[in-house]
Amino acid sequence: MIKHKMIERYSKLKGGLFDKVTKADVGDGVMKLLEDGVDILAWADPFFPDPSIPKSVQKVMIDAIKDGFPSHYSMPIGMVELREAIASKVSKQTGLEINPSRNVIVTPGSDTALLYSMMPFIGEGDEVLVPDPSYPSNFLNPELLGGVTVRVPLYEEDNYAFRIEEFEKRVTDKTKLVLITHPNNPTTTVFRRENIIELCDFVKKHDLVLVSDQAFEDHIFDGIEFVHPATIDGMWERTLTVCSISKGIGLSGFRIGYIYATDEIMDVLYGGAVNVLGAATTITSLGAVTAIEDTKYLEIVFKKFDRRRKMVYELFSGMDNVSMKMSESGFLTWLDISKLGTSDEITAYLLKEANVLVNSGAAYGKQGEGHIRIVTGCFESDDKANKVFTKIKNALINFNKKNL
Ligand SMILES: Cc1ncc(COP(=O)(O)O)c(C=O)c1O
Repeated sequence: MIKHKMIERYSKLKGGLFDKVTKADVGDGVMKLLEDGVDILAWADPFFPDPSIPKSVQKVMIDAIKDGFPSHYSMPIGMVELREAIASKVSKQTGLEINPSRNVIVTPGSDTALLYSMMPFIGEGDEVLVPDPSYPSNFLNPELLGGVTVRVPLYEEDNYAFRIEEFEKRVTDKTKLVLITHPNNPTTTVFRRENIIELCDFVKKHDLVLVSDQAFEDHIFDGIEFVHPATIDGMWERTLTVCSISKGIGLSGFRIGYIYATDEIMDVLYGGAVNVLGAATTITSLGAVTAIEDTKYLEIVFKKFDRRRKMVYELFSGMDNVSMKMSESGFLTWLDISKLGTSDEITAYLLKEANVLVNSGAAYGKQGEGHIRIVTGCFESDDKANKVFTKIKNALINFNKKNL
């Protein structure tokens, strides 16, 4: 009744990241499945559903509550101690000079940051180039801002590297921005230096802006170099880097993300902070300072994710009609099941047969069809994780026997 009053691009929203629970519903659907005893390997949420706050972080937050600290607003651009911790981390990672009061803004999670970082650049009809497959919000966000999402295919045979000719084919005089997820979710690809340089050359040549979503940057395996696009010649002035403590440190419930960029860009983002962001939560901002500074915890998480990716590789890589590459980053596995059926079919089959929810690759773009995404970082215990991965493997073996 009221929908006709809405702008069309909003009225088409369907109550969550994706509309079907077989994909990765963010509403009550998953909670219902959890109650029914389904193992959820479809939320990129480390250790879900087990508790996982580092002890040092817990202590700081409990002490702060006892002192009555968190009952007031913090600054809309983020608590100063947190911006300092972030600036120090980013300076160490990148060698860039990051001023905590000029180049960093804290956001309530990096999902907010992704939309906010594009707001000043995208108006009606402006085009945004988004690699496919990619994090699904990246396809939707430009359209929420009135822009047009232009998908740029990545190919499995290239290990999902950027093919610059595919970007060149799609650039027009309306193109304003390139939005990448680096490392990529769902493929775990860490874009290599030469490939990042090629992409940055393309961005500079066409005078575009780059938004680099680096939510998974904390865990890169096998000594692969992680190149921050903002550090490439001529890119600092045109790059907004979006990060999070949800993935690397596993504190998704804290809702702390951040953007770093030049003073010129940040003037505008600071200017809108009170209207658009409000501010991040005080208590989790304080916890995030310790979480970022306590790098020992990050090392523990790194080792665990490394074990998990190897565990999954051992289980699945020799199987009939299923193939995968060893994950390069984070806590995801990207399984090619195209010889068995469509992504949606196999996702639905695993839910029914193995009582496990994984993600249909189709949710990550056209190039994601024929794949499923498994979150290997779920559960505290390696044993529990192994049992659930084995359930998936056995169900896929049965599928082979029955159907092929
Ligand atoms: C690639 C990527 N970026 C950003 C986010 C948003 O994370 P958060 O809002 O928890 O920081 C996610 C969450 O799944 C993600 O996968």
